[in-house]
Amino acid sequence: MEDLDNIMKYWNTLELRQYLDNQMPMSRNTEHQWLERSTTMDPWRDGGMTLAVEDKKTGEFLGTVSLFRIQKQHKRAEFGIAIHKPENLGKGYGTDATRVMLWIAFQILGLNSVYLITLDTNERAQRAYEKAGFRKAGIFRQGAFVKGAFHDFIIMDILKEEFLKEYPPGTEVGSP
Ligand SMILES: CC(C)(COP(=O)(O)OP(=O)(O)OC[C@H]1O[C@@H](n2cnc3c(N)ncnc32)[C@H](O)[C@@H]1OP(=O)(O)O)[C@@H](O)C(=O)NCCC(=O)NCCS
Repeated sequence: MEDLDNIMKYWNTLELRQYLDNQMPMSRNTEHQWLERSTTMDPWRDGGMTLAVEDKKTGEFLGTVSLFRIQKQHKRAEFGIAIHKPENLGKGYGTDATRVMLWIAFQILGLNSVYLITLDTNERAQRAYEKAGFRKAGIFRQGAFVKGAFHDFIIMDILKEEFLKEYPPGTEVGSP
């Protein structure tokens, strides 16, 4: 909750929001409620979990990373992430946090697959996801209407067996 001020600095910029699920600005009150829910979530009870991404050296809040729509029956979840401050993009934080969340998904929660959808224009995200182990699985045509135009969603996924080839049990992930 102490990161709320920091979140509100960048959360409503179109530069960030153009890549998110919707572009509507969020009030401080809505964000406060979201943080309350996110910080008390149980992945099995609530079907999701969110972690703060921090710079380990300075403790600076960088953004959040989530698993949601966790399905017990199918052992599957959707992945989402946002690094907020423009200066912190492209520095490897996203790839690192994605790997850590996949490690949690496969080695702690025991899920079998994780998928995500991202805009066709979000090449930085696709590159980061590929580095973390995701593969392109398909295209959801014209699934998004952003800044006056329809865009395709790229669907990416990764299976437990693929992640474990790279990071077998006992292997650590996450940059120091
Ligand atoms: C997507 C996101 C999490 C990726 O995290 P990140 O820390 O910025 O990414 P990384 O630095 O780990 O990796 C980015 C890669 O893309 C490359 N890249 C950067 N900008 C790029 C661009 N405009 N086009 C193509 N590739 C780009 C980088 O060079 C790097 O690849 P490399 O290591 O091979 O050089 C982050 O950019 C973000 O939060 N963006 C805003 C919100 C968002 O898009 N969320 C995802 C919604 S699906």
